[in-house]
Amino acid sequence: MKKILLVGSGGREHSIAEAIKRSPQKTLLFTFATAKNPGILEMSEDYFMTNSLNNFDDLKIFVEKIKPDFVIVGPEDPLANGMADFLLELGIKTVGPNKVNSQLESSKGFTRNLLEKYKIIGNPKFKSFEHVDGIREFLDELGGDFVVKYDALKGGKGVKVSGDHLNGIEEGYQYAVDCVKECGKVVIEEKLIGQEFSLISLVDGVTVVDFPAVQDHKRAYDGDCGPNTGGMGTYSDANLSLPFLTEQDLKSAHEINVAVMKALEKETGFKFKGFMYGGFIVTKNGVKLIEYNIRLGDPEAMNIMPLLKSDFVDICEAMVNEKLNKKVVQFENKATVCKYVVPQGYPDKPVKGEKIFIDYEKMSKDVRIYFASVDGMRNDLKLCGSRAIGVVGIAENLEKAEKICEQAVNLITGPVFHRKDIGTKELIGKRIRQMEEVMEM
Ligand code: AMP
Ligand code: GLY
Repeated sequence: MKKILLVGSGGREHSIAEAIKRSPQKTLLFTFATAKNPGILEMSEDYFMTNSLNNFDDLKIFVEKIKPDFVIVGPEDPLANGMADFLLELGIKTVGPNKVNSQLESSKGFTRNLLEKYKIIGNPKFKSFEHVDGIREFLDELGGDFVVKYDALKGGKGVKVSGDHLNGIEEGYQYAVDCVKECGKVVIEEKLIGQEFSLISLVDGVTVVDFPAVQDHKRAYDGDCGPNTGGMGTYSDANLSLPFLTEQDLKSAHEINVAVMKALEKETGFKFKGFMYGGFIVTKNGVKLIEYNIRLGDPEAMNIMPLLKSDFVDICEAMVNEKLNKKVVQFENKATVCKYVVPQGYPDKPVKGEKIFIDYEKMSKDVRIYFASVDGMRNDLKLCGSRAIGVVGIAENLEKAEKICEQAVNLITGPVFHRKDIGTKELIGKRIRQMEEVMEM
Protein backbone atom coordinates (compact mmCIF):
# COMPACT_ATOMS: atom_id res chain seq x y z
CA MET A 1 0.00 0.00 0.00
CA LYS A 2 1.24 3.49 -0.88
CA LYS A 3 2.22 5.73 1.99
CA ILE A 4 1.65 9.45 1.58
CA LEU A 5 2.81 12.14 3.98
CA LEU A 6 0.78 15.36 4.14
CA VAL A 7 2.32 18.49 5.68
CA GLY A 8 -0.13 20.98 7.21
CA SER A 9 -3.51 20.96 8.94
CA GLY A 10 -5.79 23.73 7.59
CA GLY A 11 -8.91 23.65 5.42
CA ARG A 12 -6.77 23.37 2.30
CA GLU A 13 -4.98 20.32 3.69
CA HIS A 14 -8.29 18.72 4.75
CA SER A 15 -9.46 18.95 1.11
CA ILE A 16 -6.13 17.47 -0.05
CA ALA A 17 -6.44 14.61 2.47
CA GLU A 18 -9.96 13.88 1.26
CA ALA A 19 -8.80 13.78 -2.39
CA ILE A 20 -6.04 11.33 -1.42
CA LYS A 21 -8.42 9.06 0.47
CA ARG A 22 -10.90 9.15 -2.46
CA SER A 23 -8.30 7.50 -4.68
CA PRO A 24 -9.28 4.01 -5.86
CA GLN A 25 -5.76 2.97 -4.86
CA LYS A 26 -5.51 1.90 -1.25
CA THR A 27 -3.27 4.40 0.54
CA LEU A 28 -2.09 5.11 4.04
CA LEU A 29 -2.13 8.80 4.95
CA PHE A 30 0.35 10.23 7.45
CA THR A 31 0.25 13.83 8.66
CA PHE A 32 2.90 16.25 9.94
CA ALA A 33 1.22 19.26 11.57
CA THR A 34 1.17 21.90 14.29
CA ALA A 35 -2.54 21.50 15.10
CA LYS A 36 -5.00 18.62 15.24
CA ASN A 37 -7.42 18.93 12.34
CA PRO A 38 -10.42 16.75 13.31
CA GLY A 39 -11.07 15.72 9.68
CA ILE A 40 -7.48 14.89 8.76
CA LEU A 41 -7.01 13.09 12.07
CA GLU A 42 -9.85 10.68 11.24
CA MET A 43 -8.20 9.80 7.91
CA SER A 44 -4.60 9.53 9.16
CA GLU A 45 -2.75 6.35 10.03
CA ASP A 46 -0.36 8.37 12.20
CA TYR A 47 -0.35 12.10 13.03
CA PHE A 48 2.89 13.77 14.14
CA MET A 49 2.43 16.96 16.17
CA THR A 50 5.41 19.31 15.88
CA ASN A 51 6.05 22.80 17.24
CA SER A 52 6.76 24.15 13.74
CA LEU A 53 6.48 22.86 10.17
CA ASN A 54 10.03 24.17 9.77
CA ASN A 55 11.27 21.72 12.41
CA PHE A 56 13.13 19.45 9.98
CA ASP A 57 14.58 17.38 12.85
CA ASP A 58 11.05 16.28 13.75
CA LEU A 59 10.30 15.74 10.06
CA LYS A 60 13.31 13.45 9.72
CA ILE A 61 12.25 11.33 12.71
CA PHE A 62 8.75 10.90 11.25
CA VAL A 63 9.91 10.28 7.68
CA GLU A 64 12.45 7.66 8.75
CA LYS A 65 9.74 5.91 10.74
CA ILE A 66 7.08 5.81 8.02
CA LYS A 67 9.17 5.87 4.81
CA PRO A 68 6.54 7.61 2.61
CA ASP A 69 6.34 7.09 -1.17
CA PHE A 70 6.03 10.87 -1.55
CA VAL A 71 5.25 14.00 0.44
CA ILE A 72 2.70 16.70 -0.32
CA VAL A 73 3.22 20.10 1.31
CA GLY A 74 0.22 22.39 1.95
CA PRO A 75 1.62 25.79 3.01
CA GLU A 76 4.44 27.89 1.48
CA ASP A 77 6.59 28.50 4.52
CA PRO A 78 8.27 25.06 4.81
CA LEU A 79 8.86 25.01 1.03
CA ALA A 80 10.50 28.45 1.14
CA ASN A 81 12.65 27.05 3.96
CA GLY A 82 13.85 24.16 1.81
CA MET A 83 11.63 21.27 2.87
CA ALA A 84 11.62 19.69 -0.62
CA ASP A 85 15.45 19.91 -0.80
CA PHE A 86 15.74 18.35 2.67
CA LEU A 87 13.41 15.48 1.75
CA LEU A 88 15.22 14.83 -1.53
CA GLU A 89 18.45 14.34 0.42
CA LEU A 90 16.57 11.64 2.34
CA GLY A 91 15.57 10.13 -1.03
CA ILE A 92 11.95 11.27 -0.94
CA LYS A 93 10.12 13.19 -3.67
CA THR A 94 7.87 16.13 -2.85
CA VAL A 95 4.83 17.70 -4.49
CA GLY A 96 6.05 21.27 -4.03
CA PRO A 97 9.05 23.20 -5.37
CA ASN A 98 12.56 23.31 -3.94
CA LYS A 99 13.90 26.32 -2.07
CA VAL A 100 15.30 28.24 -5.02
CA ASN A 101 12.10 27.87 -7.06
CA SER A 102 10.01 28.79 -4.00
CA GLN A 103 11.31 32.33 -4.41
CA LEU A 104 8.47 32.65 -6.91
CA GLU A 105 6.30 33.29 -3.83
CA SER A 106 8.82 34.29 -1.17
CA SER A 107 10.34 37.15 -3.19
CA LYS A 108 8.14 39.57 -5.10
CA GLY A 109 11.29 41.13 -6.63
CA PHE A 110 12.58 37.76 -7.87
CA THR A 111 9.30 37.15 -9.70
CA ARG A 112 9.00 40.61 -11.24
CA ASN A 113 12.63 40.41 -12.43
CA LEU A 114 12.08 36.89 -13.82
CA LEU A 115 9.17 38.07 -15.96
CA GLU A 116 11.18 41.04 -17.17
CA LYS A 117 14.36 39.08 -17.93
CA TYR A 118 12.53 36.38 -19.92
CA LYS A 119 10.20 38.89 -21.63
CA ILE A 120 7.03 37.30 -20.24
CA ILE A 121 3.88 39.42 -20.56
CA GLY A 122 1.98 40.46 -17.44
CA ASN A 123 4.26 42.75 -15.44
CA PRO A 124 3.02 46.18 -14.39
CA LYS A 125 5.48 49.08 -14.28
CA PHE A 126 7.71 48.27 -11.26
CA LYS A 127 11.07 48.81 -9.57
CA SER A 128 12.77 47.00 -6.71
CA PHE A 129 14.90 48.86 -4.17
CA GLU A 130 17.47 47.76 -1.61
CA HIS A 131 17.97 51.26 -0.22
CA VAL A 132 15.85 54.37 0.02
CA ASP A 133 17.49 56.25 -2.86
CA GLY A 134 15.09 56.74 -5.74
CA ILE A 135 11.96 55.56 -3.90
CA ARG A 136 10.38 59.00 -3.69
CA GLU A 137 11.11 59.75 -7.35
CA PHE A 138 9.52 56.46 -8.47
CA LEU A 139 6.41 57.07 -6.34
CA ASP A 140 6.14 60.53 -7.93
CA GLU A 141 6.47 58.96 -11.38
CA LEU A 142 3.56 56.57 -10.62
CA GLY A 143 1.40 59.50 -9.44
CA GLY A 144 -1.15 58.59 -6.78
CA ASP A 145 -1.63 54.99 -7.92
CA PHE A 146 0.96 52.62 -6.51
CA VAL A 147 1.44 49.43 -4.50
CA VAL A 148 4.26 48.88 -1.99
CA LYS A 149 5.32 45.27 -1.36
CA TYR A 150 7.43 43.94 1.49
CA ASP A 151 9.85 41.66 -0.38
CA ALA A 152 9.74 38.54 1.82
CA LEU A 153 7.06 36.22 3.21
CA LYS A 154 4.77 38.05 5.63
CA GLY A 155 1.74 35.77 5.88
CA GLY A 156 -0.06 37.69 3.12
CA LYS A 157 0.19 40.98 5.05
CA GLY A 158 3.13 42.70 3.36
CA VAL A 159 1.28 44.41 0.49
CA LYS A 160 -0.14 47.93 0.87
CA VAL A 161 -2.16 49.60 -1.86
CA SER A 162 -2.60 53.36 -2.35
CA GLY A 163 -6.12 54.58 -1.66
CA ASP A 164 -6.75 51.37 0.32
CA HIS A 165 -4.08 51.14 3.02
CA LEU A 166 -1.82 54.07 2.07
CA ASN A 167 -3.02 57.62 1.91
CA GLY A 168 -0.81 59.58 -0.45
CA ILE A 169 2.82 59.46 -1.50
CA GLU A 170 4.21 60.35 1.94
CA GLU A 171 2.58 57.31 3.60
CA GLY A 172 3.75 55.15 0.70
CA TYR A 173 7.29 56.43 1.14
CA GLN A 174 7.25 55.77 4.90
CA TYR A 175 6.00 52.19 4.43
CA ALA A 176 8.60 51.54 1.71
CA VAL A 177 11.36 52.80 4.03
CA ASP A 178 10.06 50.50 6.83
CA CYS A 179 10.19 47.54 4.41
CA VAL A 180 13.81 48.29 3.46
CA LYS A 181 14.72 48.56 7.16
CA GLU A 182 12.93 45.31 8.08
CA CYS A 183 13.84 42.96 5.24
CA GLY A 184 16.35 44.92 3.17
CA LYS A 185 14.15 45.03 0.06
CA VAL A 186 10.96 46.55 -1.27
CA VAL A 187 9.08 46.36 -4.57
CA ILE A 188 7.02 49.32 -5.73
CA GLU A 189 4.65 48.98 -8.64
CA GLU A 190 1.85 50.53 -10.62
CA LYS A 191 -1.62 49.95 -9.17
CA LEU A 192 -3.61 47.78 -11.58
CA ILE A 193 -7.37 48.20 -11.96
CA GLY A 194 -9.61 45.28 -12.91
CA GLN A 195 -11.01 41.94 -11.73
CA GLU A 196 -8.76 39.48 -9.91
CA PHE A 197 -8.82 35.70 -10.35
CA SER A 198 -6.64 32.74 -9.41
CA LEU A 199 -5.41 30.23 -11.97
CA ILE A 200 -3.69 27.34 -10.22
CA SER A 201 -1.80 24.92 -12.46
CA LEU A 202 -0.38 21.50 -11.82
CA VAL A 203 3.24 21.57 -12.96
CA ASP A 204 5.77 18.75 -13.36
CA GLY A 205 8.55 20.88 -14.86
CA VAL A 206 7.56 20.00 -18.44
CA THR A 207 3.75 20.15 -18.65
CA VAL A 208 1.24 22.62 -17.21
CA VAL A 209 -2.36 21.52 -16.57
CA ASP A 210 -4.81 24.06 -15.17
CA PHE A 211 -7.37 23.69 -12.42
CA PRO A 212 -10.66 25.57 -12.86
CA ALA A 213 -10.20 29.36 -12.38
CA VAL A 214 -11.39 30.67 -9.00
CA GLN A 215 -12.21 34.10 -7.54
CA ASP A 216 -11.38 34.85 -3.90
CA HIS A 217 -12.87 37.50 -1.56
CA LYS A 218 -10.29 39.01 0.77
CA ARG A 219 -12.38 41.53 2.69
CA ALA A 220 -14.05 40.40 5.92
CA TYR A 221 -17.56 41.77 5.37
CA ASP A 222 -20.31 41.77 2.73
CA GLY A 223 -19.91 44.25 -0.11
CA ASP A 224 -16.09 43.92 0.02
CA CYS A 225 -15.90 46.04 3.19
CA GLY A 226 -13.80 45.69 6.32
CA PRO A 227 -10.27 44.48 6.96
CA ASN A 228 -8.33 42.13 4.69
CA THR A 229 -8.33 38.43 5.60
CA GLY A 230 -6.74 35.23 4.32
CA GLY A 231 -9.84 34.88 2.10
CA MET A 232 -13.51 34.68 3.22
CA GLY A 233 -14.71 32.56 0.35
CA THR A 234 -14.35 31.63 -3.30
CA TYR A 235 -16.33 30.44 -6.28
CA SER A 236 -15.66 28.57 -9.50
CA ASP A 237 -17.99 28.15 -12.44
CA ALA A 238 -18.74 25.26 -14.78
CA ASN A 239 -16.52 24.98 -17.91
CA LEU A 240 -13.42 25.80 -15.81
CA SER A 241 -13.86 29.56 -16.32
CA LEU A 242 -15.47 32.51 -14.49
CA PRO A 243 -18.45 34.64 -15.61
CA PHE A 244 -16.31 37.76 -16.27
CA LEU A 245 -13.44 36.01 -18.07
CA THR A 246 -13.05 35.61 -21.83
CA GLU A 247 -11.42 32.58 -23.39
CA GLN A 248 -8.49 34.82 -24.29
CA ASP A 249 -8.05 35.94 -20.63
CA LEU A 250 -7.79 32.34 -19.49
CA LYS A 251 -5.43 31.52 -22.36
CA SER A 252 -3.15 34.46 -21.45
CA ALA A 253 -2.98 33.37 -17.79
CA HIS A 254 -2.16 29.80 -18.86
CA GLU A 255 0.56 31.04 -21.21
CA ILE A 256 2.12 33.12 -18.41
CA ASN A 257 2.22 30.03 -16.15
CA VAL A 258 3.85 27.99 -18.95
CA ALA A 259 6.42 30.72 -19.69
CA VAL A 260 7.24 31.08 -15.98
CA MET A 261 7.78 27.33 -15.62
CA LYS A 262 10.29 27.39 -18.51
CA ALA A 263 11.99 30.59 -17.29
CA LEU A 264 12.41 29.15 -13.78
CA GLU A 265 14.34 26.16 -15.08
CA LYS A 266 16.64 28.40 -17.12
CA GLU A 267 17.15 30.77 -14.19
CA THR A 268 17.64 28.28 -11.34
CA GLY A 269 18.63 25.06 -13.11
CA PHE A 270 15.77 23.19 -11.41
CA LYS A 271 12.37 22.13 -12.71
CA PHE A 272 9.37 23.50 -10.80
CA LYS A 273 7.25 20.63 -9.47
CA GLY A 274 4.04 21.31 -7.65
CA PHE A 275 1.18 23.80 -7.68
CA MET A 276 1.81 27.07 -9.49
CA TYR A 277 -0.79 29.54 -8.30
CA GLY A 278 -0.99 32.66 -10.46
CA GLY A 279 -2.87 35.58 -8.93
CA PHE A 280 -3.99 37.51 -12.01
CA ILE A 281 -5.99 40.64 -12.74
CA VAL A 282 -7.84 41.35 -15.99
CA THR A 283 -7.22 44.99 -16.87
CA LYS A 284 -8.11 47.16 -19.84
CA ASN A 285 -4.69 46.22 -21.22
CA GLY A 286 -5.13 42.49 -20.82
CA VAL A 287 -4.19 39.98 -18.13
CA LYS A 288 -1.51 41.09 -15.66
CA LEU A 289 0.22 39.22 -12.88
CA ILE A 290 -0.38 40.33 -9.28
CA GLU A 291 1.69 37.64 -7.58
CA TYR A 292 2.62 33.97 -7.55
CA ASN A 293 2.07 31.40 -4.83
CA ILE A 294 3.80 28.03 -4.88
CA ARG A 295 0.98 26.02 -3.31
CA LEU A 296 -2.73 25.46 -3.53
CA GLY A 297 -4.84 28.40 -2.37
CA ASP A 298 -6.86 28.39 0.81
CA PRO A 299 -9.88 28.46 0.26
CA GLU A 300 -9.34 27.82 -3.50
CA ALA A 301 -8.31 24.18 -2.88
CA MET A 302 -11.73 23.51 -1.34
CA ASN A 303 -13.46 24.51 -4.61
CA ILE A 304 -11.11 22.55 -6.82
CA MET A 305 -10.40 19.30 -4.96
CA PRO A 306 -14.02 18.05 -4.75
CA LEU A 307 -14.40 18.55 -8.54
CA LEU A 308 -11.48 16.30 -9.38
CA LYS A 309 -12.74 13.14 -11.08
CA SER A 310 -9.28 11.70 -11.68
CA ASP A 311 -7.18 9.86 -9.14
CA PHE A 312 -5.30 12.52 -7.15
CA VAL A 313 -2.62 10.03 -6.07
CA ASP A 314 -1.87 9.30 -9.76
CA ILE A 315 -1.70 13.04 -10.42
CA CYS A 316 0.76 13.63 -7.58
CA GLU A 317 2.99 10.81 -8.81
CA ALA A 318 2.84 12.18 -12.35
CA MET A 319 3.86 15.61 -10.99
CA VAL A 320 6.97 14.36 -9.19
CA ASN A 321 7.96 11.97 -12.02
CA GLU A 322 7.46 14.38 -14.98
CA LYS A 323 4.59 12.31 -16.39
CA LEU A 324 1.80 14.86 -16.21
CA ASN A 325 -0.66 14.83 -19.07
CA LYS A 326 -3.96 16.60 -19.56
CA LYS A 327 -5.81 13.32 -19.93
CA VAL A 328 -5.02 12.25 -16.36
CA VAL A 329 -6.63 15.41 -14.92
CA GLN A 330 -10.41 15.48 -15.37
CA PHE A 331 -12.96 17.62 -13.52
CA GLU A 332 -16.69 17.49 -13.02
CA ASN A 333 -18.29 20.22 -15.08
CA LYS A 334 -19.91 21.93 -12.07
CA ALA A 335 -19.93 25.24 -10.21
CA THR A 336 -18.78 25.57 -6.59
CA VAL A 337 -19.20 28.19 -3.88
CA CYS A 338 -17.08 28.07 -0.74
CA LYS A 339 -17.74 30.24 2.31
CA TYR A 340 -15.55 30.33 5.38
CA VAL A 341 -17.28 30.34 8.74
CA VAL A 342 -15.08 32.49 11.00
CA PRO A 343 -15.16 33.48 14.69
CA GLN A 344 -16.94 36.69 15.68
CA GLY A 345 -14.38 39.49 15.76
CA TYR A 346 -12.19 37.87 13.05
CA PRO A 347 -9.61 38.94 11.88
CA ASP A 348 -8.67 41.60 14.47
CA LYS A 349 -10.20 40.36 17.73
CA PRO A 350 -11.56 36.85 17.17
CA VAL A 351 -13.26 34.92 19.97
CA LYS A 352 -11.37 31.74 20.88
CA GLY A 353 -12.18 28.57 22.79
CA GLU A 354 -15.95 28.95 22.22
CA LYS A 355 -17.98 25.91 21.15
CA ILE A 356 -19.65 25.58 17.76
CA PHE A 357 -22.18 23.01 16.62
CA ILE A 358 -22.73 21.49 13.18
CA ASP A 359 -26.03 19.84 12.26
CA TYR A 360 -24.57 17.28 9.82
CA GLU A 361 -27.87 15.36 9.49
CA LYS A 362 -29.61 18.21 7.67
CA MET A 363 -26.81 18.82 5.16
CA SER A 364 -27.30 18.13 1.47
CA LYS A 365 -25.11 15.50 -0.18
CA ASP A 366 -23.77 18.30 -2.40
CA VAL A 367 -22.03 19.97 0.55
CA ARG A 368 -18.44 19.46 1.64
CA ILE A 369 -17.24 20.55 5.07
CA TYR A 370 -13.55 21.24 5.64
CA PHE A 371 -12.16 21.88 9.11
CA ALA A 372 -9.56 24.61 9.54
CA SER A 373 -8.88 26.57 12.75
CA VAL A 374 -10.92 24.35 15.10
CA ASP A 375 -9.99 21.98 17.86
CA GLY A 376 -11.67 18.81 19.17
CA MET A 377 -13.80 16.17 17.48
CA ARG A 378 -16.35 16.57 14.70
CA ASN A 379 -19.23 16.66 17.25
CA ASP A 380 -17.39 18.68 19.87
CA LEU A 381 -15.63 21.60 18.18
CA LYS A 382 -14.02 24.72 19.59
CA LEU A 383 -12.90 27.84 17.74
CA CYS A 384 -9.15 28.50 17.65
CA GLY A 385 -9.29 32.11 16.40
CA SER A 386 -8.68 31.94 12.67
CA ARG A 387 -10.90 30.88 9.73
CA ALA A 388 -12.80 27.94 11.26
CA ILE A 389 -14.73 25.87 8.72
CA GLY A 390 -14.85 25.93 4.93
CA VAL A 391 -18.28 25.06 3.56
CA VAL A 392 -18.62 24.20 -0.14
CA GLY A 393 -21.80 23.87 -2.19
CA ILE A 394 -21.58 22.03 -5.54
CA ALA A 395 -24.18 22.24 -8.33
CA GLU A 396 -24.61 22.58 -12.09
CA ASN A 397 -24.64 26.38 -11.83
CA LEU A 398 -23.45 29.12 -9.47
CA GLU A 399 -26.90 30.17 -8.29
CA LYS A 400 -27.70 26.66 -7.05
CA ALA A 401 -24.22 26.11 -5.61
CA GLU A 402 -24.53 29.35 -3.61
CA LYS A 403 -27.93 28.38 -2.20
CA ILE A 404 -26.66 24.92 -1.19
CA CYS A 405 -23.62 26.49 0.48
CA GLU A 406 -25.61 29.18 2.30
CA GLN A 407 -28.11 26.62 3.61
CA ALA A 408 -25.27 24.49 4.98
CA VAL A 409 -23.47 27.46 6.55
CA ASN A 410 -26.65 28.22 8.49
CA LEU A 411 -26.50 24.74 10.03
CA ILE A 412 -23.31 25.80 11.84
CA THR A 413 -24.13 27.63 15.05
CA GLY A 414 -22.08 29.45 17.67
CA PRO A 415 -20.33 32.84 17.89
CA VAL A 416 -19.42 32.88 14.18
CA PHE A 417 -20.14 34.83 10.98
CA HIS A 418 -19.66 34.45 7.23
CA ARG A 419 -20.07 36.51 4.06
CA LYS A 420 -23.58 36.07 2.73
CA ASP A 421 -22.84 37.73 -0.61
CA ILE A 422 -20.13 35.42 -2.04
CA GLY A 423 -21.34 33.62 -5.16
CA THR A 424 -24.78 35.32 -5.16
CA LYS A 425 -26.40 36.42 -8.40
CA GLU A 426 -26.11 40.06 -7.21
CA LEU A 427 -22.37 39.92 -6.55
CA ILE A 428 -21.58 37.99 -9.74
CA GLY A 429 -23.64 40.57 -11.69
CA LYS A 430 -21.64 43.35 -10.02
CA ARG A 431 -18.33 41.68 -10.99
CA ILE A 432 -19.45 41.46 -14.62
CA ARG A 433 -20.50 45.15 -14.61
CA GLN A 434 -17.21 46.16 -12.95
CA MET A 435 -15.34 44.33 -15.69
CA GLU A 436 -17.37 46.12 -18.37
CA GLU A 437 -16.62 49.48 -16.72
CA VAL A 438 -12.88 48.72 -16.68
CA MET A 439 -12.97 47.94 -20.39
CA GLU A 440 -14.70 51.26 -21.09
CA MET A 441 -12.21 53.30 -19.03
P1 AMP B 1 -0.33 39.90 -2.95
O1 AMP B 1 0.08 39.53 -1.55
O2 AMP B 1 0.79 40.25 -3.85
O3 AMP B 1 -1.35 38.95 -3.50
O4 AMP B 1 -1.20 41.22 -2.82
C1 AMP B 1 -2.36 41.24 -2.02
C2 AMP B 1 -3.43 42.02 -2.73
O5 AMP B 1 -2.94 43.33 -3.04
C3 AMP B 1 -3.84 41.43 -4.06
O6 AMP B 1 -4.80 40.43 -3.94
C4 AMP B 1 -4.36 42.66 -4.78
O7 AMP B 1 -5.70 42.91 -4.42
C5 AMP B 1 -3.48 43.77 -4.25
N1 AMP B 1 -2.41 44.07 -5.23
C6 AMP B 1 -1.15 43.55 -5.26
N2 AMP B 1 -0.45 44.05 -6.29
C7 AMP B 1 -1.27 44.92 -6.94
C8 AMP B 1 -1.14 45.79 -8.07
N3 AMP B 1 0.00 45.91 -8.76
N4 AMP B 1 -2.22 46.53 -8.42
C9 AMP B 1 -3.38 46.47 -7.74
N5 AMP B 1 -3.56 45.69 -6.66
C10 AMP B 1 -2.52 44.93 -6.25
N1 GLY C 1 -6.72 32.54 -1.04
C1 GLY C 1 -5.49 33.20 -1.08
C2 GLY C 1 -4.31 32.36 -0.81
O1 GLY C 1 -4.38 31.18 -0.62
O2 GLY C 1 -3.22 32.92 -0.79
